[in-house]
Amino acid sequence: MRKTVFAFSALAFSTVAASSVLAQDAATSALIERGRSVAIASDCMACHRTPEGEGKPFAGGYTISSPLGPIVAPNITPSKEFGIGNWSEAQFEAAMRDGVAPRGHLYPAMPYTAYRAMSDDDLHALFVYLQKDVKPVDEAPKAQTDLPFPFNIRLSMAGWNLFFNRATPFDNALAAPAGTERGKYLVDGPAHCGACHTPRNTLMAEDASQYLGGGDVGGWHAPNITSDPVSGIGGWSDAELVTYLKNGNAVGKSQAAGPMAEAVEHSFRHMPDNDLQAIANYLKTVPAIRSEAQTAPAYEHSKAKSAGIGKLDYGIDRSPAAMVNGTSVDGEELYVSACATCHQLNGAGTQDQFYPSLTSNRATGGMTPNNLVMAVVEGVHRKTNDFTVQMPAFKDELSNAQIAAVSNYVLQRFGNASLSVSEADVVELKNGGEVPLLVKATPWLMLGGTVLAAFVLVLAAVFFWRRGKRNTLQHA
Ligand code: HEC
Ligand code: HEC
Ligand code: HEC
Repeated sequence: MRKTVFAFSALAFSTVAASSVLAQDAATSALIERGRSVAIASDCMACHRTPEGEGKPFAGGYTISSPLGPIVAPNITPSKEFGIGNWSEAQFEAAMRDGVAPRGHLYPAMPYTAYRAMSDDDLHALFVYLQKDVKPVDEAPKAQTDLPFPFNIRLSMAGWNLFFNRATPFDNALAAPAGTERGKYLVDGPAHCGACHTPRNTLMAEDASQYLGGGDVGGWHAPNITSDPVSGIGGWSDAELVTYLKNGNAVGKSQAAGPMAEAVEHSFRHMPDNDLQAIANYLKTVPAIRSEAQTAPAYEHSKAKSAGIGKLDYGIDRSPAAMVNGTSVDGEELYVSACATCHQLNGAGTQDQFYPSLTSNRATGGMTPNNLVMAVVEGVHRKTNDFTVQMPAFKDELSNAQIAAVSNYVLQRFGNASLSVSEADVVELKNGGEVPLLVKATPWLMLGGTVLAAFVLVLAAVFFWRRGKRNTLQHA
């Protein structure tokens, strides 16, 4: 009798234990799934990958060229020695929100100023996902971050953070998939749109007064995506915005190349439609910012201009001198030989717009030629859920002078004719765009700092010398 009771209770106990393990497993897998979707929306894999791209997710080594110099994304797999396998959740939260890792302050090349806004629930799920579902990679990235003095002093970020890392984390309820502020949450938090689309001030922090008003990322320009119908996306339908985020293309308006193509490929195209819809809805409410000089949207502007464009007076010469001897700086000749097979002689693109129109396009009709030049330099490469988009890079085929010439031809004929591109502009964009004032000024600030330090030292010396003298006098 005793035995049976014992056996029975043991059975009951193990059933209860087993079902609670099952319940725990279910809860953990739900957390892991949520963490995975947070990682996707936050695009962690775009940076924390190997330089080759495929194979070892989150192993790091990919180098980001920041204005301060190249910064390497670390291994964030659960490897105990080389990754974050030994980190506590509090350490992870400090890295994600405060930009402080066990090894010291992080540079804002890691977008912690945006991730700070993530909800507690999402950060927790992200931690569980990274620790439990990602395969540890037990090796350090080959490249190392090696910034010049004084930027190599990580502690200097502490002062910067005090002023510029100030976002308030979102409430769990507002950030939840059915939350009322979901679109704003995604834009400001995980998806960190402002990291590229908000211009930076002289101290390289996002300028809140120009929120989403258009910023520069390397040589590329991330356009104004405020609700303004002329300078922003106010004239886009919600469906166009959703399609753009999903496929990287809004026909007759814009395509995603460069860093936006990467964001679409790694992140946005994997997000659920209702999240993309929430983002579109929110963008339509962002206070409008208008560039004074702009009178019509980029795509309308150039469309109107190209209305009268007929055919060139000669057909496509498929072996023109331009490409054979590589010296022509005749923009028309270059366009006909290098571009017209796809974009057509009249710039209208192909009928299905797989090769897009250059006469109705943000990249040619906007207020900066940067993306036109960068598209010619680097080409366009983007995987979408349905197809792969490729425009060849011309950096090895065309000289800087030729890239300037063909860009000017495109601007004159199909785009914003008030813009022009010089050979020096091409060189600058290839090298990552205009150097921020802070970086340009640092040698001078340091020189100033040295002079100031010397001055203080002299003053101190005089002071102590006088005091010493007075003391000696008093003693005497
Ligand atoms: C735009 C590129 C970029 C994105 C996106 C990005 N990171 Fe980072 N991350 C970096 C860089 C670069 C560093 C190293 C910064 C440094 O050396 O100061 C870093 C550092 C870190 C660290 C500190 C690691 C250590 O060993 O000190 C953690 C943790 C981290 N990132 C997690 C994440 C997670 C999780 C995500 C997605 C939510 C993410 N990062 C998205 C670029 C990025
Ligand atoms: C890593 C930098 C980066 C991030 C992050 C980023 N963008 Fe972009 N975005 C760009 C660049 C660069 C372009 C220009 C692409 C081109 O024309 O080839 C662009 C273009 C766009 C355009 C097209 C605008 C136009 O008028 O042509 C939209 C819309 C857009 N982004 C929305 C977003 C939203 C919404 C987010 C966040 C959910 C986001 N982007 C995050 C860099 C970024
Ligand atoms: C082999 C075909 C092909 C050739 C040749 C080609 N392009 Fe493209 N171009 C494309 C494709 C494909 C896209 C991207 C379409 C998309 O994203 O949906 C594109 C996009 C562009 C864009 C938009 C870039 C952006 O960031 O929004 C510009 C500008 C452009 N091309 C200019 C040129 C110029 C100038 C030349 C000649 C030097 C040229 N293309 C040659 C196929 C081509």
